[in-house]
Amino acid sequence: MTPRTFYLTTPIYYVNARPHLGHASTTIMADAMCRYRRLRGDRVYLLTGTDEHGDRIAQEAAKAGVSPQAYADEIAAAFRDTWRRLGITNDDFIRTTEPRHAVVVQAILQKLHDAGEIYFGEYGGNYCFGCERFYTDKEIVDGKCPDHQTPLTFIKEQNYFFRMSKYQDWLIKHLEEHPDFVQPERYRNEVLGFLREPLQDLSISRPRTRLQWGIPLPFDDQYVTYVWFDALINYVSAVGYPDGPLYRDLWAADHAEHLIGKDILKPHAVYWPTMLKAAGIPLYHRLNVHGYWTLGGGKMSKSVGNVVEAFSLTDKYGHDAFRYFLLREMNFGLDASFSEEAFVGRLNADLANDLGNLASRATTMIVNFGGGAVPAPGPAAPEDMAVREGLERAVAGVSQAMDAFAFQRALAAIWELIGTVNRYVDAMAPWALAKDPDKRERLATVLYTIGEALRGLGILLDPFLPGAAAKIRGAVGAPAPSHADLGWGRLAPGTPVTKLPGLFPRIDVGAASGPAGARPAAAAPNAEAGLAKIPIDEFAKVELRVAEVLAAEKVAKSKKLLKLTIKVGEETRTLVAGVAEHYDPADLVGRKVVIVANLMPATLMGIESNGMVLAASHEGTVSLLTLDKDVPSGSRVK
Ligand code: MSP
Repeated sequence: MTPRTFYLTTPIYYVNARPHLGHASTTIMADAMCRYRRLRGDRVYLLTGTDEHGDRIAQEAAKAGVSPQAYADEIAAAFRDTWRRLGITNDDFIRTTEPRHAVVVQAILQKLHDAGEIYFGEYGGNYCFGCERFYTDKEIVDGKCPDHQTPLTFIKEQNYFFRMSKYQDWLIKHLEEHPDFVQPERYRNEVLGFLREPLQDLSISRPRTRLQWGIPLPFDDQYVTYVWFDALINYVSAVGYPDGPLYRDLWAADHAEHLIGKDILKPHAVYWPTMLKAAGIPLYHRLNVHGYWTLGGGKMSKSVGNVVEAFSLTDKYGHDAFRYFLLREMNFGLDASFSEEAFVGRLNADLANDLGNLASRATTMIVNFGGGAVPAPGPAAPEDMAVREGLERAVAGVSQAMDAFAFQRALAAIWELIGTVNRYVDAMAPWALAKDPDKRERLATVLYTIGEALRGLGILLDPFLPGAAAKIRGAVGAPAPSHADLGWGRLAPGTPVTKLPGLFPRIDVGAASGPAGARPAAAAPNAEAGLAKIPIDEFAKVELRVAEVLAAEKVAKSKKLLKLTIKVGEETRTLVAGVAEHYDPADLVGRKVVIVANLMPATLMGIESNGMVLAASHEGTVSLLTLDKDVPSGSRVK
């Protein structure tokens, strides 16, 4: 793959609020994307920063009884520290109160003024102080700002205007000719939708009599620059417009992409390209738009208490887990709902169970059965090839998904591989091979395959779980990650391996285990709390089957447990069920029940349980799931 250059920006965040989950989510997405591109060998530049001018900041500062600059300094520092704490790998952090930014804003304003793109005029309209913009009659809902639901103020004043309207046809044409200019497509359509209405000129100044906290217009010091006109320019001022080397290599060479939330689509997809066009500056390459996190149905950033609380979960459960949840749970472009239950659910299922268990059992087996190091493999069997192909499929899947910022799909592709490797370990049963001296070579091949798959995961997971991925690579002696090292077979035989237990400890959700639960540790949160919605492919991972009870007996010294011998198709298994207080063993023999057939084995009172019987419970009544028509044992339940 030829290395490419990639310049990615986040929005610059207003300093009227402390960093919260919404800001963190965009910044984490940007960071994951940049880490991914660096892994591929691309030259990457990540920019973030703070938007510090305008009414809202002046008002907040006044409330706090400090100067706007002192106020902005404090919150900008909080953003910077937060990103450092979360391990964000930004290359620069721009603040709109920095002189390097102000000079560029003034230079662009002057250029536009000289070219006749800015004129002086009068405008009267309904203004929202929260949004710092005028609303047209069509946009107003019940006389209020559609975003803040607060009354608008009619303002009539003289201002400077940018001739945005004259670029309407040009912008439509540009969007039509560059289908990727705004993605996902729904947002491109939304922009084309705005452009079906006549585009107004844009008021780009505020009179000093009303607002002082802004960049003065270079051609009229009685006015300051409108905050959006000021803020958007950060994307070029930060890289040294008009003649800095970074500007030339990153922006002018068409490598710039923006990442934003859907709330600021119009300024980025309409104001910004027309401003660039009028100033004779090349356009950005692509605008990537994500949806909103909601909490209890409402848009998050308007209920600040909740977002701050949600953000505190990053310290409670760890940065990697938080990052994983944000990237895994949101379908790029669509809204997603945030809840602690869903977060813990993902943490337990995907991180503790799927990934954590794999890392722990894989390293433990290599250490215990391979003498502490990766053994040299023998010839590969078809099962081993399938793992290798699984890794190749995951690499391709991640690459395809990441081209579209589809983090959730990239992670789903990696979790496919984790599933494949977990099933491979179960099927190959290295613990059984280790008992047979004739199977030594086979054991070596299996251990090598597991080690190599784990090494691949240590690279692939790096953008998404940087901490855990580094630990995985550390355990299999792999150095700094790079996609160039994803080729199968680079794990050198003889590499020492260390055990990696407890990569993600399971979070105890505090609810009692289900009555029939053979694995108390896997207890579900109580039903009243409600669980996160899952896609059907998640559900398909649960193998439910009909089983016939062949024998049942009480487990010695346990009030609750019964040991069941069951038949699932041709297979006979032992399973432990917590129904002894509700069923007489003799009554169960001959019954057909429904079991979870693919649970990892668990040992209860010294008995290995292979599966779980399903039962419903309500206020002390426990009822086993049975069938209302006869079907053979082993039948799949879906
Ligand atoms: N200062 C402007 C942006 C100027 S860019 C030239 C601004 N700042 S903001 O602080 O309000 O940040 C808005 C951005 O924060 C959104 O576009 C999104 O990236 C992020 N989010 C804030 N709340 C969010 C959610 N509830 N969900 C997802 N992202 C959200 O607008």
